[in-house]
Formats: sequence, structure tokens, C-alpha cells
Amino acid sequence: MTIMKNDNYKIKKKSLIIFAISLFLIIISILYSLNIVTNNENKITENKIFNKLDYYIKKNDLRYTQYKKNNPKLTIEQIVTHVNIGLDNDYYTNTRHTKNLNTQYILVNKYNFLTEKYIPKNLEKINSQYSLGNMYLVDYAKEAFEKMAQQAKKENLSIIAMSTYRSYKYQVNLYNTYAKKDGKEIADTYSARPGFSEHQTGLAVDIYNGKEPYTNFEVTEEFKWMEKNAYKYGYILRFPKNKTKETGYNYESWHYRYVGEEIAKYIYDKKISYEEYYAQNLEKKD
Ligand code: DAL
Ligand code: ZN
Repeated sequence: MTIMKNDNYKIKKKSLIIFAISLFLIIISILYSLNIVTNNENKITENKIFNKLDYYIKKNDLRYTQYKKNNPKLTIEQIVTHVNIGLDNDYYTNTRHTKNLNTQYILVNKYNFLTEKYIPKNLEKINSQYSLGNMYLVDYAKEAFEKMAQQAKKENLSIIAMSTYRSYKYQVNLYNTYAKKDGKEIADTYSARPGFSEHQTGLAVDIYNGKEPYTNFEVTEEFKWMEKNAYKYGYILRFPKNKTKETGYNYESWHYRYVGEEIAKYIYDKKISYEEYYAQNLEKKD
């Protein structure tokens, strides 16, 4: 009798343990599958938010999600724009050879470089009235610059080019001089490494008024004039004050870039940087 009771007890205990383990496994698998479903749903919803923008690029999907996790306060527009620029990677990492060579659309910055061999076609010398020594720009940028300087002159203002096209080699010396003086980290905030300078495109020009040092250009009447008029000639202020993250450089009141009248007006109206313009309008076509 006692033996039978013991057996019964053992069987009940065994069934109870099996039941508990099964229940545990069932609960775990339900929770697991629910979690997968939720995760997938989150991903799908996020992708849907990102791909509403017409500058959304499918291959950047994971990067958008990751960047959003790291920067939860940014808007969806900012996330897609920043990732398209490349800002989810450190400056000078994930760099690529830039496209649109020999066009007004070319983008050169800390993610997009030119080779040592690149020399833009059709460089022309700027009229010496409007330049400090022999200064060259690509023909259409040079013409626009001279028209702009001529108009400013009519208004008794002096717009003078003091640095324009710079060869790769020239930039090597310039950057090395700055790096020696201030250290690489500081130099990187204001000077481009060789191959990464927009001056090598022949579409960039540093301006001064013939009196004030160029670093003080911001305090001059000429700067005020450029603020109001540069876009009408196809030029933009390339490194604005509030766009240092996007451009990768400190504010430069003296550095202008030719992009053509239409794009310059768009950038002027929207108060954006060329990086943002490119990320929202040209990157997808690259
Ligand atoms: N100062 C600008 C960023 C250049 O070196 O090209
Ligand atoms: Zn410059």
C-alpha cells in the first residue's frame, strides 16, 4: 500500500515538473515571438517614415535607424540629410572619390575628395582689377565673379579675390604649415587636407576688400553687400556660422563658392549649406 502511494506521488510530481517546464517554454516562446514582431513592426514603421522623403536612399536604411538611435532629438529630415552627407561617420572616414568632375555641382568636403591629378578644365585668369596677383577660376565662375565685382565697384565697394584655384601640391604646403603652427586637430577646423579642398575645383574664391585682413571680412560693407547679392551671381557663402557640423569647418565670412544662379538662390532662400543641398537634391542621383 505504502509503495503504491509513493509511486503515485512520484508520478504526480513528475507530471507537475513536466507541466511547469512546458508552461515556461510556451511563455518564453510567446514572449520571444511577440518581441520579434514588435521589433519588425518598429523597423517597418521607421522605414516608412524615412522613405516618405524623396531624398531617402534605400541602401542607407540601417544607417538612418542607427543614427536616429544615437540622435533621438533630430527630426526625420535631419536624420536622412545628415546620413546622406555622411555625418554618421567621423570626418575623413568613409571618404570617396567625388563625382560631377568639371561641373558646377561638384562637392568637395571631408567625405569627398579629388585626386592629386585633378586640375579643372578651362581655368581663366581673373581681371587684375579684382584680384591680388594671378588668380584663376573656371571660366564660367570667373565671368560671374568679375560681373559681381564690377557691380560692387559701381557701388563704391571693393571685392578682391585673394585665393582662388589651388593645386593639390599648394594645399599640401598650406595644410602642413597650419598643422605645424596649430597642430592637426585645430588646423582641421579651418584648413582642408590635400585633395579635400574646394579650392582645387577652381570654383571657390576667398575675398577681401583690399584694406581689412580677410579674417575681418565680416565687419566690412563689402561683406554686407555679398550677403545680399552674391547669390544673384551664382555664389554662396560656403561655410556659414550655423552650419559648422554640416560643412566640417569653422565659419568663414570670406570663402564663396560658385554653384550657379538657380542653386545659389535656392540655398540663399532656404538658408542651408551646400552639403544639405547636395544631400537632399543630388546625392540620390550619384
Ligand atoms: N579653408 C578651406 C576650408 C580650405 O582649406 O579649403
Ligand atoms: Zn577659401
